[in-house]
Amino acid sequence: MSKKSDIEQEQVVTPWAVEFGSDGKIDYQKLTEEFGCQEIDERLIERIERITETKAHAFLRRGLFFAHRELDEICTAYEKGEKFYLYTGRGPSSESLHLGHLVPFQFTKWLQDAFKVPLVIQLTDDEKFLWKDLQLEDCRRLARENAKDIIACGFNPKTTFIFADVSYMCTPFYVNMVKIAKCVTFNQAKGIFGFTGDSNIGQIGFPPVQAAPSFPDCFPHMFGMNKKSLKCLIPCAIDQDPYFRMTRDVAHRLGGYKPALVESRFFPALKGESGKMSASDPTSAIYVTDSAKEIRNKINKHAFSGGGATIEEQREKGANLDVDVPWKWLNFFLDDDEKLKEIGEKYSSGEMLTGEIKQILADCLTPIVEEHQIRRANVTDEVLDMYFSIKPRVFLDLFQKYEEKDGSWAVVETDLSKALEEKMKLDEEDEDDTTVLQDKNDEEAGCAIGAPKSDDWLRIRKERLKKDAPTEGSKSALKKAAKIKAAQEKKEAEKLAKAAAKEASAAATMS
Ligand code: TYM
Repeated sequence: MSKKSDIEQEQVVTPWAVEFGSDGKIDYQKLTEEFGCQEIDERLIERIERITETKAHAFLRRGLFFAHRELDEICTAYEKGEKFYLYTGRGPSSESLHLGHLVPFQFTKWLQDAFKVPLVIQLTDDEKFLWKDLQLEDCRRLARENAKDIIACGFNPKTTFIFADVSYMCTPFYVNMVKIAKCVTFNQAKGIFGFTGDSNIGQIGFPPVQAAPSFPDCFPHMFGMNKKSLKCLIPCAIDQDPYFRMTRDVAHRLGGYKPALVESRFFPALKGESGKMSASDPTSAIYVTDSAKEIRNKINKHAFSGGGATIEEQREKGANLDVDVPWKWLNFFLDDDEKLKEIGEKYSSGEMLTGEIKQILADCLTPIVEEHQIRRANVTDEVLDMYFSIKPRVFLDLFQKYEEKDGSWAVVETDLSKALEEKMKLDEEDEDDTTVLQDKNDEEAGCAIGAPKSDDWLRIRKERLKKDAPTEGSKSALKKAAKIKAAQEKKEAEKLAKAAAKEASAAATMS
């Protein structure tokens, strides 16, 4: 794959390769212009903080997630009470993730919590098989392994669906893929992705696979069969932009919304920004499997330093923060703004030495990695299956009504059973297009690892929804009962008070 986003004949960014400019850097401003996305400014960050009532994640505050497509539109819709879903992914090509891979997932987790929205995560085992020297069976196994690391980032199991392409492929997904594929000519694909005559035809046919999950009807068990039931927001690094540029170009021809994007810079390699973090060179990156000792050793021995070559030089000239990897990494992972600022000032002025900032970085990363390892160890096969399960997830809050009050939008509670009814009505209307999923067996297990499979999928889903309807002991039923009881008690008290007053006035008249 050669061509792509050539900037001054040097800088090339594709989903499969990143080549740096002649100065060994990525010029993100130029890249933004060339790709046609917009920079995230202070006003947009403040707006997100306002509507989510949550302090912006450090990645946003520090401009690490720096570009977007229609994130402002998502905010406008959200302000009016419209929810959206998040979609992100991973190409499973190695046993474990490096810290750079955690960046989009940590940010996605923050978005999920702040906006309280559902999330789908695609594992492109097919993509890695087509591009890497790997057996398909290995890619499928790695998908499950990588999913454990993704789950360890803390995603909400009730609102998160993880799927691997090879096993999830089902009619609604394929319908979207094939429609997207028909909208894109080979010449356009060459222009967007740089395919050549040497590209295998699996590669050429792959982009619709990554594009399709931008449409909610790929996930009927979560969002129903309406292509416009929800808008989609995709967090990723900017290397994935070409896939979604293509998706946005064809969305209207499928009758769907254009997906919105929020895009990050690259987390730099340990040996310097222009280096590559590679699984085949363990000293090029820190992996989520590394021990505290390995983390310390790697940082001390391999982290590219912008500090002076000697203590004297560092004291005299200070460090060049533009190229210093420990400084750049702290920008990603040290949450404390004040502390970060102080480190930046002391290190760039020469007051702090290279060994000291490396020590601070090791102290910062070690607990992050260790905690990740503990959480990952708790991801059993059972937990994994829960995230991969196609068991219906019902997002009742999508059916909440909102009202404008004092200039801001407030939720007006809806009745739980009514929301279920509405959702089922929607499904009824959509049923005609639903020649969903083959093969009866696996649905019984409620497990998507071998793909969603039941012909009876809608029937089973409805039965489950009915089962979930409020019963006598359910929260909403209890709330309702408590309300009725309180109203009855109030009435009773008023009656008693009235009677007492009457009695008192009668007694006063008699005396
Ligand atoms: P993959 O596995 O190459 O990367 C997974 C995610 O990590 C981002 N990423 C990075 N972010 C910051 N710094 C880095 N050094 C770095 N390296 C990788 C990627 O941009 C990506 O967000 N084809 C995709 C998988 C995929 C996907 C998606 C990604 C499928 N659907 C939707 C994003 C959104 C891939 O191979 O990612």
